[in-house]
Amino acid sequence: MGDKSDKKARREASHVAIIMDGNGRWASNRGWPRLVGHRKGAERVKQIVRAAPDIGIQWLTIYAFSTENWKRSTEEVLGLMTIFTRYIEREADRIAADGVRMRFIGDRSKLDPKLQRLMAGIEARTANLTRLNLTVAINYGGRDEIARTIRHLAAEVAAGRLDPQAITDQVVSNCLDTAGLPDPDLVIRTSGETRTSNFLPWQAAYAEYEFTETLWPDFTADELVAILARFGNRDRRFGGVVSA
Ligand code: IPE
Ligand code: IPE
Ligand code: MG
Repeated sequence: MGDKSDKKARREASHVAIIMDGNGRWASNRGWPRLVGHRKGAERVKQIVRAAPDIGIQWLTIYAFSTENWKRSTEEVLGLMTIFTRYIEREADRIAADGVRMRFIGDRSKLDPKLQRLMAGIEARTANLTRLNLTVAINYGGRDEIARTIRHLAAEVAAGRLDPQAITDQVVSNCLDTAGLPDPDLVIRTSGETRTSNFLPWQAAYAEYEFTETLWPDFTADELVAILARFGNRDRRFGGVVSA
């Protein structure tokens, strides 16, 4: 992408994380059931995944279902789970052909066994692919992830295998669901809400945030390109001073 000087002036967001919000409102605005919005949202995911590698994204992490989303009606929860199941079943060949490595974060033990099998299957099938790293957060909550990590580390300490003094940032990172993934550079939330809703609190500690009014079913690759351009002009200081 561009020549050398171009690269220097522009910072690239190689890891973009997206809080895909607004499916319900998109449907309600039209007098349609919320699940219609979720189906439309899943279509958007396909388009964004296909566009991502060509616009400089190497890592794409998307929030599909939070640990808090179980509070919704049984109909909506089951409908979402069906959408995830069908997405993997129908998209698997395309994902593999496009060179996409697909992974999942979150507590999958609470999900339907069939969905769990499909998730493990596509992770294994695409494990060596490198064109795009797609990570889908399902039954993901940042606090739940950190609590699970603390339980694991505490058990290691109790078993005498880990010295508490040896627990560094890096050790914690390596125990999170996102072990092996770089931290996100940019987190985008659609639908006008300006909160993070328990998404990647540890990993996004130094991420840039972009909030757009667009509802997820209306979000396009063009808007993503525009957001990435704004990101490229930001000065990321990481606690240091403004670069010359
Ligand atoms: C985001 O859309 C998708 C999920 C949380 C699964 P919402 O369903 O939250 O849509 P709104 O916020 O109600 O419009
Ligand atoms: C966040 O959206 C979760 C996902 C996008 C999967 P929500 O719609 O669930 O978040 P709140 O309830 O507005 O915080
Ligand atoms: Mg919402």
